Amino acid sequence: MRQTGNNIKIPVNDINVSYNDEGPKKAPVIIFLHGFPLNKSMWDNQVEKLKDNYRVIAYDIRGHGDTDLGAIDFSIDLFAQDLMCFMDALKIEKTMLCGLSMGGYIALNAIENHPNRFSALILSDTNCTADSLEAKENRMKTIVGVKENGVEKLADGLIPKLFAPQSFKTNSEEIAAVKEMIMKTSKQSLYNSLHAMANRKETCSKLPKIKVPVLILVGKEDKITPPEAAKAMHEKIKNSALHIISNAGHLSNMENPVEFNSQLKKFIDSVNQHTNKLHKEIRSVFEEQITNKKVNFAQIENDFNSRIMEITMIIKDKYPELLKYLDEMPITIPTEKKSGNNAKKFKRLL
Ligand code: MLT
Repeated sequence: MRQTGNNIKIPVNDINVSYNDEGPKKAPVIIFLHGFPLNKSMWDNQVEKLKDNYRVIAYDIRGHGDTDLGAIDFSIDLFAQDLMCFMDALKIEKTMLCGLSMGGYIALNAIENHPNRFSALILSDTNCTADSLEAKENRMKTIVGVKENGVEKLADGLIPKLFAPQSFKTNSEEIAAVKEMIMKTSKQSLYNSLHAMANRKETCSKLPKIKVPVLILVGKEDKITPPEAAKAMHEKIKNSALHIISNAGHLSNMENPVEFNSQLKKFIDSVNQHTNKLHKEIRSVFEEQITNKKVNFAQIENDFNSRIMEITMIIKDKYPELLKYLDEMPITIPTEKKSGNNAKKFKRLL
């Protein structure tokens, strides 16, 4: 039974994960992954914007916000495993995924290892490279700094890097909220996450393999993962769009939510419009059989392969831009040589 609302807890791997789940039950799902050392509340504005049309989920990554730390060493692999187990626990087979910075590292890892679980990707203020030697050393210095001077000092040093200079005049509420998020993160979680990011593998070489639509967003004045990093990812992902958010630094979704949300909504609406068109087309072919309880399902199955062929032809004729997604459908497009299919699987799609 789905629970909706804020700060819901669910056991995932060895921990309890805290999440928000809003929006209509049957709507397409989008999951948000926050940056370091923040939490799910950084997505409040996006959740509000999307929740009438989408099922919108934001959760606290291990050791952040209200999610437990657990007893395992952190890694981006572990964070991605947590995401997969979280989706399994909520019975979400496929979702759109939006990750900012560290959330983007996790999203890139997850799509590399579980490409069939995602229908679209939004990469915000992130990059695909591994840490340079210097970046790794800086992370170790940060750990020493937290041990010696505490978390508030870290927050005060980090905030000027997270926000664009003009945000200090216009976004004081967001800046205060970010400081609170950082202060809420335990020292142990900070150390573990810094190690996880320092040890992460590059994902740039895997980007050409991404088949789903991708939107890349970046604040024009992002100093941590600058627009050049976003452009480099855009060049490697064939089916990607890039938008640079004005008046924003690294936390572009909080600094300029109007522009961020408008790009995000336009993108996910277009992804879902294509899926809906396809669904409608498939439905119209099968509606009668599916709704008429008297029809024997075996009869539908007999007819199945030729129908799939017909649908494939409709897609070829009317929606050629969708052809590239046929390979990803969890059914087999029949060929003369290979005609077997699974009608039950197909029925679940409808
Ligand atoms: C983040 O916002 O998640 C961090 O800045 C990422 C990083 O330090 O690499």
